[in-house]
Amino acid sequence: MMNQPLLPTIATIIHTIYRRKVILRLLFSGIVLFLATQIYLSTTTNTTAGARYRKSWKLEIDDLIVQCYTIVFQNLIDSGFLTGDSKTLAVGTQFLELTGALNESGVKYSKTTKRNDWLPYDNHTFDVEFCTHTSLDYSLNPSGFSSELSRTLKPDGYLIIHTESKDSYSLNSLLDLFDSFKLIRSREIDIRHWSIEGIHEIVLKKQNKILRRRRMIAGSCSVPAYKKSLIQDSEPLVFKEPLNPCISIKNNFENVKNMRYLPLMADISFKTQYVYIDVGAKSYGSSIGSWFKKLYPKQEKPFKIFAIEADKQFHEEYKSKKKITLLPYEPWVRNESLFFEINRVSNGPNEERGRGMGRVQSAQTSSSYMGDINKIQGFDFADWMKNSFGEKDFVVVKMDVDGTEFDLIKKMIENGAICLIDEMFLECHYDRKQRCSDGERSSRYQNGYEECMKLYSSLREKGVLVHQW
Ligand SMILES: *[C@@H]1O[C@H](CO)[C@@H](O)[C@H](O)[C@H]1NC(C)=O
Ligand SMILES: *[C@@H]1O[C@H](CO)[C@@H](O)[C@H](O)[C@H]1NC(C)=O
Ligand SMILES: *[C@@H]1O[C@H](CO)[C@@H](O)[C@H](O)[C@H]1NC(C)=O
Repeated sequence: MMNQPLLPTIATIIHTIYRRKVILRLLFSGIVLFLATQIYLSTTTNTTAGARYRKSWKLEIDDLIVQCYTIVFQNLIDSGFLTGDSKTLAVGTQFLELTGALNESGVKYSKTTKRNDWLPYDNHTFDVEFCTHTSLDYSLNPSGFSSELSRTLKPDGYLIIHTESKDSYSLNSLLDLFDSFKLIRSREIDIRHWSIEGIHEIVLKKQNKILRRRRMIAGSCSVPAYKKSLIQDSEPLVFKEPLNPCISIKNNFENVKNMRYLPLMADISFKTQYVYIDVGAKSYGSSIGSWFKKLYPKQEKPFKIFAIEADKQFHEEYKSKKKITLLPYEPWVRNESLFFEINRVSNGPNEERGRGMGRVQSAQTSSSYMGDINKIQGFDFADWMKNSFGEKDFVVVKMDVDGTEFDLIKKMIENGAICLIDEMFLECHYDRKQRCSDGERSSRYQNGYEECMKLYSSLREKGVLVHQW
């Protein structure tokens, strides 16, 4: 099993960013050095000295890399994962050096490639596969690449992966990509050649069956310890009802500033896809443009954005946003027509404007005929989530649905969709004083602040990293 899971901290993330910069700088100095050598060599054309210099300079670096991986392979041989007779595949940018190191270690048959998406080999070709830290970490399609590694490896074959990721969250995401593999060994090793701090080495063994790591166990999500500790590390819930009812949590800058986003606490690599679902999206600028695009830390991952918004007045502007999928429905617990109350209550100065719709009700259960104009299409949100996304996806949900959240979340807990959410921003609507001056409680929402707090607490207990919004 995993050695001590490292507590992810902001420092780790800062370090990651810093490390990227270091790599960029190294790359840049490499290019400068290369150009300088070329210029030097072009001034000494055809002299044997120039050629010899070029040769020795390059050989020295290559030798270091060969030596370094020879140590790695030697260790795998000593541990019994690799033998001289193993048909071996090594994947990494320094593929020539990998060939050298495998030969140096006495491995008779080996292939190397720098591809990190698909592999040009038949099914069940190799006994052992090895990935340097430049392969899976840098793959643009880690899920496709993991299938390729699995496809080309023989049953009972060993897969050895080097990764720069060290926190429990990303290591578990990585393991989730290989669900027909058994974890044999996981440890930090020292590769001195690069300006990196240490590499995590994972040894996996291919099994004949799929070993699913189920998140959903008998009606509740299974919450591993590393997720529990993330929830503990996030900002505490605000149990005291805000005194000023005009300032909701999200409008209070202090709250947003103190919010401990999951990608600030953990490395979110190795997910199949990255998804942001804005449930009750309103206008593009109300939160997708102003908050998610600008402020949510995305660790350079390509997020797919879904905006769920039934109000027609907002639909036009989403047509021009090609990268956002608009679902023009009201999130609900069934596919059925709904009517909505016209929101006649005048909003206070700090309430967001541009929302014409109030609480939704099932059209079937309504006694009064509301007319076509107020009818909208409701759709089963929990069902859609369950059918659209999987456990290996990274899913962020923002929900602001005018009181329907209690129904939606109940349904999501029932069908297990709740376990698919990695991080949630939930605005809970309670009977807060509607007008900022007169202190009357609004009858618009049935639940009080206490019910909202129960909802937040129960979500956190279920392993959902939920923030008050
Ligand atoms: C492989 O290793 C052997 C012995 O160590 C050496 O003689 C041979 O030249 C090497 N082959 C390559 C392609 O490096
Ligand atoms: C190779 O494996 C893949 C996936 O495991 C499978 O879809 C495909 O049919 C296999 N091809 C052959 C020739 O067996
Ligand atoms: C409900 O509506 C959504 C959106 O149109 C659709 O994707 C889904 O299949 C429907 N579900 C059922 C059970 O009809």
